[in-house]
Amino acid sequence: MHAATCQPTPVQMPVAAHRAPFDGRLFRRVLGLFPTGVTIVTTWDEEGRPVGATVSSFNTVSLDPPLVLFSMAKSSACCDAFAAGGPLAIHVLGHEQAELSNRFARGGGDKWADLTYGAGEHGAPLLEDTLVSFECSLFAQYPGGDHTIFVAEVRQLRFRDGEPLVFCSGTYRQLMAMGGGQ
Ligand SMILES: Cc1cc2nc3c(=O)[nH]c(=O)nc-3n(C[C@H](O)[C@H](O)[C@H](O)COP(=O)(O)O)c2cc1C
Repeated sequence: MHAATCQPTPVQMPVAAHRAPFDGRLFRRVLGLFPTGVTIVTTWDEEGRPVGATVSSFNTVSLDPPLVLFSMAKSSACCDAFAAGGPLAIHVLGHEQAELSNRFARGGGDKWADLTYGAGEHGAPLLEDTLVSFECSLFAQYPGGDHTIFVAEVRQLRFRDGEPLVFCSGTYRQLMAMGGGQ
């Protein structure tokens, strides 16, 4: 094809455009337009206590070996525990588990009070009854600005029937099939 015949389509004018450096609140607001699932990542601290945090930065990396990732603020109380490299678990929450998500998104206090949990076959603290749990070992960690990027190798997975909890624009949501009523 001749280059002359290749007419680029003009881009639609966006409602707003900003050049970096951005206002942090604006950056978060725009990132929030990308919907995600919600996970709770767990491991043990150096005293053998379970620690965990709500994380939406979960994503897939590789099928062989089976790798996933999440990023955690270096300021999070439990970031060092993940960096220590012990067994960890990633729990994908069901749509009815927004309260559990909020509990693990609050710093301080005992997130684990009155919760049933146990150690999985690979040693990570496992929460009961989440939609999915991946038992993992730490594969790699990378600096990522004010976050650390953790890449985890999945050793075992468990799942149940159900719909995922969704987070978008700062609000929990449920999936709905397009077209409705199907
Ligand atoms: C829906 C949702 C998603 C979140 N995703 C992340 C994330 O991907 N990475 C992160 O560092 N914090 C994330 N947070 C914030 C942490 O859950 C929060 O800072 C938590 O208090 C950290 O716990 P810690 O300080 O006890 O370690 C998220 C919070 C919510 C409500």
